[in-house]
Amino acid sequence: MEKFVIRGGKPLVGEVTISGAKNAAVAILPATILAADKCVIENLPCISDVAASVDILTAMGASVRVIDKHTLEVDTTHVTQTSVPDALSRAMRASYYFLGALLGRFGKATVAMPGGCNLGPRPIDQHLKAFSTLGAKDSVEYGMISVEADKLRGGEVFFDTVSVGATINAMLAAVMADGLTVLENVAKEPHIVDVANFLNTMGADVRGAGTDVIKIRGVRSMHGGTYSIIPDQIEAGTYMVAATITGGNILIKNVIPKHLEPITSKLEKAGATIEEFDDAVRVYRTVDIEPLNIKTMPHPGFPTDMQPLMTVLLTRARGTSIVTEGIWENRFRYVDELVHMGANIQVDGRVAVIEGVPELFPAPMRAPDLRAGAALILAALAAKGTSEVDDISHVERGYEDIVEKLRGVGADIRRVGKPEHALPQAL
Ligand code: EPU
Repeated sequence: MEKFVIRGGKPLVGEVTISGAKNAAVAILPATILAADKCVIENLPCISDVAASVDILTAMGASVRVIDKHTLEVDTTHVTQTSVPDALSRAMRASYYFLGALLGRFGKATVAMPGGCNLGPRPIDQHLKAFSTLGAKDSVEYGMISVEADKLRGGEVFFDTVSVGATINAMLAAVMADGLTVLENVAKEPHIVDVANFLNTMGADVRGAGTDVIKIRGVRSMHGGTYSIIPDQIEAGTYMVAATITGGNILIKNVIPKHLEPITSKLEKAGATIEEFDDAVRVYRTVDIEPLNIKTMPHPGFPTDMQPLMTVLLTRARGTSIVTEGIWENRFRYVDELVHMGANIQVDGRVAVIEGVPELFPAPMRAPDLRAGAALILAALAAKGTSEVDDISHVERGYEDIVEKLRGVGADIRRVGKPEHALPQAL
């Protein structure tokens, strides 16, 4: 098994370039099915979740040509399969986007039922509510969920919970449904807007993405085109915290500063100085880390995917912080690892109370999930001495070249052991 060996304790200084957004990429790749044509997707992050999406597309009958490390041409003209093979759909949680995309093009789809995950239960009732409003029936057999409609017709969906996945899946299913679909109480994350922009580039008529109401007028067909994915706001936030916790100075390039505002405002309160440029931010810290209260919320609230990273930062604050997880039931599983490093954190349900300590000590650690894995790497970088982070395949689902990027800003980090999952050569 592979692990990272990290010698921490020095400020990270230099430049890093942010990759394309994972959570946009894993929706846009399935959405190419709707085009039934050639789509060139640029700025794809080179991560294992993208590789898993490509494997599914290929299994469904799409031809995928690698143009360069971050650009693929996906030709979905000859997709005929509507059932995603079980093993492939279980390789990645976001495979549920194939439900919406296949339903939208063929009127039917089968994908493995997403089980619970490391963050807690992962229901898809809101996805199914939207499909049902559009006229689809669903059934579950042997752990696979199927949806099918004679004809998809537009309708009004009021989501009971603000859900990124359900909002995107509803858009995918509705773009070629007959008539008008109105989605209310939708998610507003930057990647929702990115998926809507992609769909519009391919001929759809989606309006209002980024607000609480999205209106979709069904079109008869869509077509191919070229689209560039937005930068990953959570990857950017990760390097912003890396600069802050180590007292370093990092120029973070290829970002949209507006998308980072919820993160920027908290980091500034914690003592970071942040300079914004057109497509970059510089982050540094010259004063002590101040304690904060944070509650994670749907966008434009503070993103849940940054929660473990901020908790790590606050272990070093001069005072008491409270971090409340507003989205997932079980997102503090990494805290035990931080306690082994000398952090003082009490968790009660969805609330963590963090008493800042002057120092973290190195320790062997295990990444329980993607963002917590990245957070533990930052904790190790802040601790003087050598730490190890195991189970790094979680981290590689979502962070492109994390070792190389951290080394580029002066981190002493190396990967040891045999890879568990080889990344395909181009991705
Ligand atoms: N929910 C329901 N019913 C549904 C759907 C969601 O009750 O039908 C609940 C969930 O249980 C959760 C909340 O609604 O409590 C929000 O879930 P959402 O559907 O928004 O999450 P998701 O689409 O499954 C995406 C990201 C996650 C990120 C969340 C929240 C992808 C592939 N994943 O998940 O990202 O935490 O939105 O922003 O886009 C990550 O990147 O590390 C990650 C976990």
